[in-house]
Amino acid sequence: MRKKVDFLVIGSGIAGLSFALKVADHGEVCIISKNKAEETATKYAQGGIAAVMYTPDTYEKHIRDTMIAGDELSNPEIVRIAITESTDRIKELIEWGTQFDKKDSGQYDLAKEGGHSEYRVLHHKDSTGLEIQRALLCQVQKHPNISLYENYFTVDLITQHHLNIEVNKKTNDVKCYGAYVLNPETKEIDTILSKITLLATGGAGNVYSTTTNPELATGDGVAMVYRAKGIIEKMEFIQFHPTSLNNPGETPSFLITETMRGFGGILKSHSGEKFMNKYDERGSLAPRDIVARAIDTEMKISGDDFVFLDCTHLDENKLITEFPTIYAKCLSIGIDITKEMIPVIPAAHYTCGGIKVDEYARSSIENLYASGECSSTGLHGANRLASNSLLESAVFSHRASIDSIKKRSSITYCNEVPDWDSSGTVLNEEMVLITQTHQELQSIMSNYVGIVRSNLRLRRALDRLQIIYRETEELYNKSILTTQICELRNLINIAFLIIKMAQNRKESRGLHYSIDYPKTRNNI
Ligand code: FAD
Ligand code: SIN
Repeated sequence: MRKKVDFLVIGSGIAGLSFALKVADHGEVCIISKNKAEETATKYAQGGIAAVMYTPDTYEKHIRDTMIAGDELSNPEIVRIAITESTDRIKELIEWGTQFDKKDSGQYDLAKEGGHSEYRVLHHKDSTGLEIQRALLCQVQKHPNISLYENYFTVDLITQHHLNIEVNKKTNDVKCYGAYVLNPETKEIDTILSKITLLATGGAGNVYSTTTNPELATGDGVAMVYRAKGIIEKMEFIQFHPTSLNNPGETPSFLITETMRGFGGILKSHSGEKFMNKYDERGSLAPRDIVARAIDTEMKISGDDFVFLDCTHLDENKLITEFPTIYAKCLSIGIDITKEMIPVIPAAHYTCGGIKVDEYARSSIENLYASGECSSTGLHGANRLASNSLLESAVFSHRASIDSIKKRSSITYCNEVPDWDSSGTVLNEEMVLITQTHQELQSIMSNYVGIVRSNLRLRRALDRLQIIYRETEELYNKSILTTQICELRNLINIAFLIIKMAQNRKESRGLHYSIDYPKTRNNI
């Protein structure tokens, strides 16, 4: 198939869907998702979306909290944009049908998470993402200009490289003409030409063995931009969520939302010690990097495989009403959270870095925008403040829509783009080559490039990565393409970017902690 659309949107989470809704009155929109459209990380968001709604909260307080969480590495201009536009974007989500919980007074019920100085997290019980995903998808399905291509896998962006024009990192006029996508029915690679392309492909948590991210989070968008010679940044800042449910064998790891700690839950060791107070005066509600590192330290010292989150002292009825999903999940594995402590461990949760974009979500590649977790806007700096990511997606997809609507009429399709050439490739009949390598990759990253790093561990990781990179490139070049081989190749790209950027950061900062550079602020 060869197709032309005004707006090609790769991703059906909050970033992709909200952009699509905004541009759809201005041209034909095609949304690609590699699974069913509702299967996204957005759907799994529990805690909520941060925004300034009422006094005593102010934009200045939210800006300050974001800068502190980001260890002062966030871009102050971008932080100001995201926070001061937060209230309008929330109103829009509500207009699109999202139902956030309210108090009896009629005001929205705001929760608090680690690093927030005020109650400002709008939520829908403990399944906020599911509610946002539902509302947006419902609007998208009603719009006559939007088509949804489910189970299509985007393999690569199309640039001048495909016209045999040399493109390298120094070429600053790389242009995006659309994308090559794997058609699930024909198993062939289709060509989609677009005037504007938005990458909204989400995170890359599956580069680690333990992650809260759904299986789809394989960093495809970031890897595609890297191959297309676009700019990627800050990949060393991988956020580990301190509290995922310790339920060995379950993937992804089930999240125990931070709002449970905002609600009064306390982290405890096996001996019952409230250990967080040793590490930070904010105790269990310190920013995530500090809490995750503290748990990692406690587990290493004690030799235990997990710590506990204790909610047994909290009001039983309120706990069940506020956290029905978590209550039911824990009960399903035999833990009654009103009576027993919850075993928790840190898990890879959020990719702070990604495709570098400006204040209108423009990437370094012409006509290519990026929004959501695959992008690096500068909002998160060295660490992301809880519940700022759904907000970031809404704000920068909105801004991308403003810029791309203006630009669209001056862009023409590049008809010279050739169709994908798969000559000489054969079906790979040994899935083990892919599954085993994926496990090796996750093991390298979890053991050497996790919460605590060192120069030696990073060097070891890179040496081992080089072997599986070479093997996988060989396999890729001779295989008829499948989603699995493409995802593995992308994850190897992601691992390389994380390790290289971690090696280049010769300090401990925010989420990147190295025992070789221990003496910077925020360190334990
Ligand atoms: P996603 O929602 O992940 O969507 C990615 C889309 O891209 C999918 O449609 C996928 O099919 C598509 N895609 C990817 N690669 C390809 C490809 N090669 N071809 C075609 N399609 C592709 N953030 C908050 O702010 N508040 C929270 O409370 C919160 N809780 C969270 C809880 C969990 C368990 C997790 C995992 C994350 C949480 N986050 C939270 C983070 C937040 O959910 C994500 O950062 C955000 O939803 C990302 O949205 P997105 O639109 O960028 O990507
Ligand atoms: C959570 O609910 O703890 C996750 C919030 C987030 O990742 O922003």
